[in-house]
Amino acid sequence: MDRQHTACLGGGVIGASWAALFLASGRSVAMFDPDPDVEKKVCAYIKTAWPALTELGLAEHGNPDAITFHRDAARAVADAAFVQENVPERLEIKHATFAEIEPALAPNVIVASSASGLTLGQMQAGWKDPARFVLGHPFNPPHLIPLVEVLGNENTADGVVEAAQGFYESLGKTTIRLNKEVPGHVANRLQAAIWREAIHLVTSGVATVEDVDKAVWAGPGLRWAAMGPTMLFNLGAGEGGLQAFCDHFSQTFNGWWEDLGDVYLSKDVTRQLVEGVEAEAQGRPPSELSQHRDALIVALQKSISDLR
Ligand SMILES: NC(=O)c1ccc[n+]([C@@H]2O[C@H](COP(=O)([O-])OP(=O)(O)OC[C@H]3O[C@@H](n4cnc5c(N)ncnc54)[C@H](O)[C@@H]3O)[C@@H](O)[C@H]2O)c1
Repeated sequence: MDRQHTACLGGGVIGASWAALFLASGRSVAMFDPDPDVEKKVCAYIKTAWPALTELGLAEHGNPDAITFHRDAARAVADAAFVQENVPERLEIKHATFAEIEPALAPNVIVASSASGLTLGQMQAGWKDPARFVLGHPFNPPHLIPLVEVLGNENTADGVVEAAQGFYESLGKTTIRLNKEVPGHVANRLQAAIWREAIHLVTSGVATVEDVDKAVWAGPGLRWAAMGPTMLFNLGAGEGGLQAFCDHFSQTFNGWWEDLGDVYLSKDVTRQLVEGVEAEAQGRPPSELSQHRDALIVALQKSISDLR
């Protein structure tokens, strides 16, 4: 087994992005995907991602061509030291894929799933021995956003979560360890909490979609890119730290929390949000806005990477 050889199972949005990052790090990738067009799509994705990876200093030792494509998942994992699973988010597909690859894995290989919604426990049922199978959940797109959420449980062998974290950190990722299973993991729940109140502010007429979005990126969002909310509030009351902050603001926050809205994404609410975001986009198509988003993310990452 070559320690620098990896496998990606599923070459959709997430698998292609992981593959680009693995290649940029100097590793080779064996990609499994039943889609006959996958090679064209993944190679196009890697080509588009490569300039950003180079700009971020992540592609110094990389070779974008060190990728092979396979219609057989067992063949794809045969010599891999690390396997990232990104097949569709359907339990029967995940289980079938695990059953196919399990006999073909070399000893000590770690298999990590990108799954956003399925729990580790549900996915472990597809293994005879899930000891070396963990959750390795990225934030889209994995080649640009540093966060990876890693989770094992009582069925995971000692040291496997730490080894998976070590692998991701060797790619320049920032990992967090989840101590227990919860729907949506950590980051998606945080995102859902913010979006719930953003929608509530729009549907209750407080501000437009565009202004609520602006309030995030021009305000706390910029601070959150630097530090997390609790550390920021620790700095919010001077030398007294978080204790002084809570002493001073507990009533205020407890009152706001009582006032925050519950929302439901009905057809009417969806229509209101779509109209709002269309006004915000001012005719720019999603492809143009996505490019702009990625350019901003790369610029932010570059400007803060030396300070971390
Ligand atoms: N899209 C996101 O924002 C995001 C973010 C984080 C994690 N994830 C997770 O990553 C995983 C992949 O998501 P995605 O958005 O890349 O999905 P996708 O639908 O874009 O890609 C899935 C790929 O798997 C292939 N595939 C492999 N085996 C298959 C099979 N047996 N049957 C059908 N197709 C098969 C498909 O051809 C396709 O190319 C999911 O578990 C998802 O929850 C997604």
